[in-house]
Amino acid sequence: MAVEITADMIIHDVVTKYPQTVKVFQGHGLPCTACEVGSRESVAGGARTHRLDANALVEDLNRVANGQEAIGIKPATKAPVGRGIPLTMAGPGAGGKIRHIVAIMSGKGGVGKSLITGLLGVSLQRQGLKVGILDGDITGPSIAKEFGVRGTPTKGAGGIDPLRSQGGVKVMSMNMFLPNSTDPVVWRGPMVSSAIKQFYSDVDWGQLDFLLVDLPPGTSDAPMTVMQSLPLDGVVIVSSPQMLATEIVIKCIKMVQTLKGKVLGVVENMAYLTMPDGSRNELFGPSNGAELVALTGAPLLAQIPIDRDIAMLCDAGKIEDYYSEEFDTLAANFVKALKIAGERR
Ligand SMILES: Nc1ncnc2c1ncn2[C@@H]1O[C@H](COP(=O)(O)OP(=O)(O)O)[C@@H](O)[C@H]1O
Ligand SMILES: [Mg+2]
Repeated sequence: MAVEITADMIIHDVVTKYPQTVKVFQGHGLPCTACEVGSRESVAGGARTHRLDANALVEDLNRVANGQEAIGIKPATKAPVGRGIPLTMAGPGAGGKIRHIVAIMSGKGGVGKSLITGLLGVSLQRQGLKVGILDGDITGPSIAKEFGVRGTPTKGAGGIDPLRSQGGVKVMSMNMFLPNSTDPVVWRGPMVSSAIKQFYSDVDWGQLDFLLVDLPPGTSDAPMTVMQSLPLDGVVIVSSPQMLATEIVIKCIKMVQTLKGKVLGVVENMAYLTMPDGSRNELFGPSNGAELVALTGAPLLAQIPIDRDIAMLCDAGKIEDYYSEEFDTLAANFVKALKIAGERR
């Protein structure tokens, strides 16, 4: 009997039963198959959120589930990289040395922006991609500490050489220029902005697939500088379940939109705590991933649980020793979101 996939079926159920349909979802511009939205959202709901043609999608899903070719998707043009994610996009940096520049942003501090930036960098690097992290939080730098890189960068032939983590991630952070890591950087906005610009233009980043820019919290000078002076592909917004209620994340999204930037995706951090019996305790309230997706029109890239190990490894400068499925999912969805954003450009 022929397979019948309908628009009211849950995305997760469809891809579990017919794994070959993952490429149809992705080819139609719906990256939710691997993320948490997909585990609750129907095919029609997912299509609506991403403003896609649900009928064309359902038609292709049925075609592929029945062993036929999809007709509504463009084939990937390059060999898959790493975990099978095709890297076919060409960003604004394609002509230069850095292929993609993405800023990580959140309305307020302590949400886990620097942690997500660091771990996203680690996951991408593990896939064989070349990654640099520019710590744009000049007055509250944390990237060098997470990666345990110490020392002062020196000037090479092509500019300032960034320091490298053990795993090979290139890192540039204000920490590296302070005599003591506890010294405060007492600078006004314009100096902070000029330091960020220098970290971009005076540093010899070499060949990079991704330059991730960790931004300070808020919507002030530093995020504005990054959005207006760096050739960004877009922004990833980090939120936590209670943040939507505080409206801070909405300000952040509006700032990106005002500056004509692009939200590539949303990450919900501290989404839950896994209890000893395996159940999920939503400490900070229920997820609002679906609302964030609706607000931004961008996919929910991952929901990251609260994990004591991450915090401990970060404090010890051993972020690269951390492994988790959620972060691999985040990196995979991040690459897909960039690819889709590139195609729509
Ligand atoms: N999912 C998580 N599980 C456990 N600890 C976390 C998690 N996310 C962040 N943290 C911890 O919370 C603190 C704040 O995170 P950080 O990334 O510095 O936030 P931000 O850059 O947004 O200010 C850090 O000590 C970090 O290790
Ligand atoms: Mg930070």
